[in-house]
Amino acid sequence: VNAQQRLNYDRIAHIYDEPFRDHASDPHLARFLAERRDLEPGNLRVLDMGYGTGKQLSANRGDYPAALLVGRDLFRGMLAHARKRGPDVCWFNGDSARAPFADASFDYITNQFSYPHVLNKSELWAETFRLLKPGGRFVLTNIDPWLMQDWAIYRYFPTALTRDFRDYLPTGQLVAALEQAGFAEVEVDYRHVYKDERLADVLAFVGLRARTSQLMAISDAEYDAGLAKVRADIAERGDDAPVSSHLCYITVQAQKG
Ligand SMILES: C[S@@+](CC[C@H](N)C(=O)[O-])C[C@H]1O[C@@H](n2cnc3c(N)ncnc32)[C@H](O)[C@@H]1O
Repeated sequence: VNAQQRLNYDRIAHIYDEPFRDHASDPHLARFLAERRDLEPGNLRVLDMGYGTGKQLSANRGDYPAALLVGRDLFRGMLAHARKRGPDVCWFNGDSARAPFADASFDYITNQFSYPHVLNKSELWAETFRLLKPGGRFVLTNIDPWLMQDWAIYRYFPTALTRDFRDYLPTGQLVAALEQAGFAEVEVDYRHVYKDERLADVLAFVGLRARTSQLMAISDAEYDAGLAKVRADIAERGDDAPVSSHLCYITVQAQKG
């Protein structure tokens, strides 16, 4: 693993598969197909870049029994889980920024919570564009750290935000990079989640460090300092004291041709 790599998923593959990451069949794929009545379900080709433990493509299978579903993920530990979950999906191991498939192989490509881990992002956009068929669609989902600096995790672990400023792109720059790679009709949807969390729940969440790449990407000393701040807050204000938190999810949809 390259020293710049945000996180070695082989270290946490065995605990990554938590129920809160479960997926329904991809609603953006359903919308794409509703617009593209010309596409025969039997000819549909879908690629998931950075598939994790394979939940999205496996969830899609029931709705698209005849489609070719293909995944690519850098870490072999994730591949082992995905294979078990989806024996009828083609899982590949390797970097999404260099995917050895032929030009124009896919109708639809998704990238969910994975692009910040890819070191060469401009190669990733160029590769995604190359792999799509004309008329194909790319859908990316993630968070926007610039719009959620009030996230409880960033408040207690401020170097996680600094690290995310390095690994993520501000959404305007992401859109510009996709347009530069050749994509058209690039649209962004924002979903804001505001909540008050109990301090004890925050502690329980961040106590499982491997659950959140933000906590794995910082040093042990920075992680320990953040945990100590949560504990000190609990000592002062009690388990039930509220912590306000804000998350912003983005979905970016882009067309080829
Ligand atoms: C936060 S997980 C998201 C997994 C899945 N898409 C989900 O939403 O549950 C990030 C995934 O990106 C993968 N990954 C990291 N760097 C990658 C790269 N350069 N190319 C492909 N996959 C990569 C990791 O192995 C991991 O499975």
